[in-house]
Parts: sequence; C-alpha cells; structure tokens
Amino acid sequence: MTQNINTGSSLGQQSAVTANGPPMISIDRLIDLVRQGGTVRTGVDIVSKQGKLLLEKDVPVTDIETLERVKRLGIGQIPIIATAKGGMWDAQGVPLALPSSPPATTPANAVPGRRPRSEIDQQLQQITEIKEIATAKYEKAKGCIKQALHSIQQNDGEFDVSPVADMVTDLVDFVSQNENSFSYMTREIFSYDDYLYNHSINVCTIGTVVMKKFNENFSAAVNTFLNNTPATVFDDKAGNEHSFSYFQPAELRDISIGFFMHDLGKVLIDPKILNKNGKLSESEFEEIKTHTAEKAMTVLEKNCLANPYITNVCLYHHAKLYDDEPRCYPERVHTTVPPYVKVCKLADIYDAMTSKRAYKEALNPVGVVTEIFNHYARKDPLLQYILHSFVSSVGIYPPGSVVALTDGRQCYVLDSKGPVLLPITDDNGRTLNQKQDPIKMVKGVAKPDIKIDRRRPPLAPLAAYKILPDYLRRIVKPPGTGEAS
Ligand SMILES: [Fe+2]
Ligand SMILES: [Fe+2]
Repeated sequence: MTQNINTGSSLGQQSAVTANGPPMISIDRLIDLVRQGGTVRTGVDIVSKQGKLLLEKDVPVTDIETLERVKRLGIGQIPIIATAKGGMWDAQGVPLALPSSPPATTPANAVPGRRPRSEIDQQLQQITEIKEIATAKYEKAKGCIKQALHSIQQNDGEFDVSPVADMVTDLVDFVSQNENSFSYMTREIFSYDDYLYNHSINVCTIGTVVMKKFNENFSAAVNTFLNNTPATVFDDKAGNEHSFSYFQPAELRDISIGFFMHDLGKVLIDPKILNKNGKLSESEFEEIKTHTAEKAMTVLEKNCLANPYITNVCLYHHAKLYDDEPRCYPERVHTTVPPYVKVCKLADIYDAMTSKRAYKEALNPVGVVTEIFNHYARKDPLLQYILHSFVSSVGIYPPGSVVALTDGRQCYVLDSKGPVLLPITDDNGRTLNQKQDPIKMVKGVAKPDIKIDRRRPPLAPLAAYKILPDYLRRIVKPPGTGEAS
C-alpha cells in the first residue's frame, strides 16, 4: 500500500480524519513526539508526487531530521494507519490514539490485563524489526551487485545500470532513515566473490550515512572554511576547484551508486591476484592498481556512463588524501579530490579492516575508527571535517551489539546515542535472565569509574549468543535454525 503525497503545497498543520482516507497527522506533531522520545510508524509507504519513497511503512521513524526533510518538501500532514506495525507511541511505548479512534483511556491495542510494552521491550522490538528489514534489503542488494559484476565479466564489460540505480535508491532511503543499519551488514567473509559483493554494499551504506552527515552540516562547514582558509583550496562536486554547494538528493543518489560500484574494475583482474592471501609483489600491486583508471573507466565508457560522480568515485577512491600519502593511485593533487571520493576512501578502508576474511580476523570497529581518525587528522581542513562526519556516523556502538564495561559486565546496546546499555551479565560474566534497568551513559561513561572497555570489541548478538538472557535469545535467531531456540 502506497500513499502519494503532493509536495510543494502545504496541507495544513492540524491532525484530522479525511472523509474516506486514513487520519492525517501534522508533521509538527510528529516532530514533537519524536523529540520527546516517541516513535512513529506510518503503516503505509509515504511517497512524494515525484515517486520518491519518503517514509517506509514498517520502519520506525526515530530521528527528527527524517521528518524535517519531509516538512521541507512542503508537506504539512501525513497519513498514519494503525496496523499491526503502524501507529504512534509515546516515550514509554504506550500506543497513542489516532484521530479516527475515540480518545482512549487505555492504549488502543493494549491487551486487557497486560501492561503496555515497556520502553525496553519497545526498543528491543524496533532493533529486531529494523534488522529483519535490513537483512532483506542487503540480500536484495547482494543479488543486484552479483548480477552486475557477473555481467561485466561475461559480456565484455557490459551491464544494465538501471536495476542498480533502483536498488541503490531504495537502499539509500532505508539507510537515511536508519543510520545504524549498516551495523547489521555481513562482515564474516570467506571467499573473494562474497567479499566483493558485501564490500560494495558496505561501502555504499557507510558512505551514504557519512555523506548525509557531511551534507547536513555543510553550510556551517563552508562558513568556517571561508573565514579561515583561502577559497581556492576547495574543489566543486565534479572535482574542479573553487566553489562548493549543498549536494542535492539526485546528486547524493549518484554518489551512492558510485559507492556501490566503486570496485567494479576488480572483476576484470586476475582472480589469483585478488584472492592472494599473502603480501602482493610489486607487479601484482601494479595489476591491482589497474582496477581504477583502466578497467573501471573502460567499463563506464562501454556502458556510456558519463556521470561525473560515479566516474570520480571509481577513478579516485585510492587517491591521496594528503600530500605524501604512500601507495596511492592514480596521481592527483589531494585538495582537488572531491569530498565524496574522500568519504568513499574512508568507508573502503573501514570496511576492509573490520571485515573477517579467511586469512585475517576482523578488527575492532571502534579501534579502527580511532586509527583512521588519527592517521588522517590535521592534514587539511576539508578532510578534517569529513573525518568528523565519519567518526560521528560510524564511531558508535550500534544498537543490538554487545559491549563490555570496565567493571566486567556485558551489556546489550539499546540505543547508540549515549549509548544506552542493558546489562545482560553480572561482573563475573554470569547471565542475568531478569531484565535490568538500562544504563544511560554520557559520552561513553556511566560513572567516573565505569566506562565501556575499549580493549574488547563490540560483539554481534550471535557472537555473544551463549551469554544472552532468554528474553534476548527469543529475538536473536541462530543461523540455520529459522527460529529462536
Ligand atoms: Fe578499490
Ligand atoms: Fe574497495
């Protein structure tokens, strides 16, 4: 079910029930609700008149920026349909009555005799639902990149870009609404083919989230730079010097397609070199380098893809980010590398380092973010700004992961903001089957003496399955079982 919305005309600000349609709720009311910790699920896909998916029906809207973006399109009200998943909930998880239903003294869909869902249960439910949707989207994306790369290999470089563009549009909408969704991506990879597919999706989703953050704070950044730095150091969106402007949605989409396809030239490289576990010889490294300026450019030309964003990403995602950075290619003055290409390079390094391969362990994502930041910090003002967008997007503890505290307790992350942690073991590592009160941390600290133990990497819930309490085991499904055990 899809609801088309007229953009460009205000539909008013009051909640109402339309004559034959679903109740319309004002965007301002929804923004207030989310600001106060509440949740909205529209129960229907909200699509602009131009056909762009604005809000997905089953995905909880938990960040204000998503709603502000809808408001900026001139939309004053949207329909909310109370379905099994759609509706509005306050910060305590209590369902709110919609205009179509009589004012309720008890929650509209509360079961008599049962207390409304607690905040913890609501958050756990949301994490589970987003993870399920993310898994389905990533599977679809994997099929798409597999088909495109296979076609490039089998058809002398030719492939159909339109399914890729459609799929990336869908993925971008999803990750824009759920900035932590990249934390559910696959990082355990044993074959190069799988690596390339997963890596393409991971770089696309991570890069998209970082670009969104970079773009949102763009005006402030430009003002700061212009006050402190000669404007000549800036390059524009296509890589030419001097001017900057805000990236428009269509440009961001092309950039995300570029992120998704950034390594397409690799399918034309000898698999023996790509699959090599040990250190590459100089000649092998020379061969790998051809996946950008030679192979990728040949494929793009063959398919008449002259989009500057896609071209720049494919061509320069291994270029220098500072003057004397070693082993970079092709040669280009680092200040003229477009900002989105720099984002791609950071996402590329982050994904490669945090992925588990047959011959190497995955590195702790938090440690990797710190390492990348320290390596590229203070090289140039624009890169510094991109790094901050990168760290604030990726350097978090994703909801649904398990982290250790310095007092020995293990905790399930309920919310990456703070973060908010649910203790699941005591300080001796013994599982606590009774739900505990969440710990709301401030900048990673609960009390002066209790912090997140940065020496221990956050675990995916399945990796921590043995210590999960029963109520979490019910929602974390071990692979291959198809159901909770
Ligand atoms: Fe590459
Ligand atoms: Fe890559």
